[in-house]
Amino acid sequence: MASTASLSAPVEIRRGVPPLRAGKGHSFLLRRLHSLSGIVPVGLFLIEHFVSNAFATRGPGAYTKQVELLSGFPFVFYLELFGIWLPILYHALYGFYIWYWGESNVTDYPWAGNFMFTAQRWTGGVAFFYMVWHTWHLRFSGVHLLTNPGAAFGKVQNEFQHPWAVAFYAVGILCTSWHFAYGLWLFAAKWGITTGDGARRKFGYICFAIGLLFVVIGGLTMLSFLKTPLQPMNVGSGVESLAVR
Ligand code: HEM
Repeated sequence: MASTASLSAPVEIRRGVPPLRAGKGHSFLLRRLHSLSGIVPVGLFLIEHFVSNAFATRGPGAYTKQVELLSGFPFVFYLELFGIWLPILYHALYGFYIWYWGESNVTDYPWAGNFMFTAQRWTGGVAFFYMVWHTWHLRFSGVHLLTNPGAAFGKVQNEFQHPWAVAFYAVGILCTSWHFAYGLWLFAAKWGITTGDGARRKFGYICFAIGLLFVVIGGLTMLSFLKTPLQPMNVGSGVESLAVR
């Protein structure tokens, strides 16, 4: 039976790293939604986006077929709106809100958790500006790719004509890969999937490998666009409009 003394003993509350607390009070639901949206659907979309673009490593023909497949989905507008644009917008805007209101104690407690805490915010912020620039150029200006998939390979190559654009793509790949990989780790810790230091450390290695895999796939994809002779931006429905297969 517990003695009165042990019941009244002061409980020592360890100071934790803020990201492992998934919000409290009225922010709980919005914070949980932010956490979940990073995996479903935004994380899933990121995986699909890297895989689809990796078809460029198999040449302009394979890449065009993949763009055709994606643009041929029924209700593609609504799929994009509710499956991609709105969730990314929510995750990004609420992410900036968390960043603005949350305190970063990186200088007081210079241990790995705090560095990762800060890096998660900066990589998210850079990814946001990268995504705005990237989608404006490839999706909302110039040749319309949903109706002209045959122009996709050439349009990306056209982007890569400027060294600053190539550098920004590399930064975009690095930031999104890092953010998603560490995001997986945070998600698993917050939702009670990894409990205890040992499990978190092991999952940390797995997340690091996942992040590295994203960087390698993204890098190889970029190389394919850079190494292939410049393709014309064919206006047409698909593979049959391509000069090189
Ligand atoms: C490439 C698109 C993105 C993906 C795939 C993604 C994914 C994720 C994932 C999986 C998490 C972990 C969820 C959790 O905290 O439990 C996360 C956290 C976070 N994301 Fe994103 N994210 C993206 C873009 C952004 C953008 C544009 C911002 C804007 C700043 C942002 C800000 C944040 C912040 C601040 C956190 C940490 C939240 C916390 O510490 O509680 N993310 N993200």
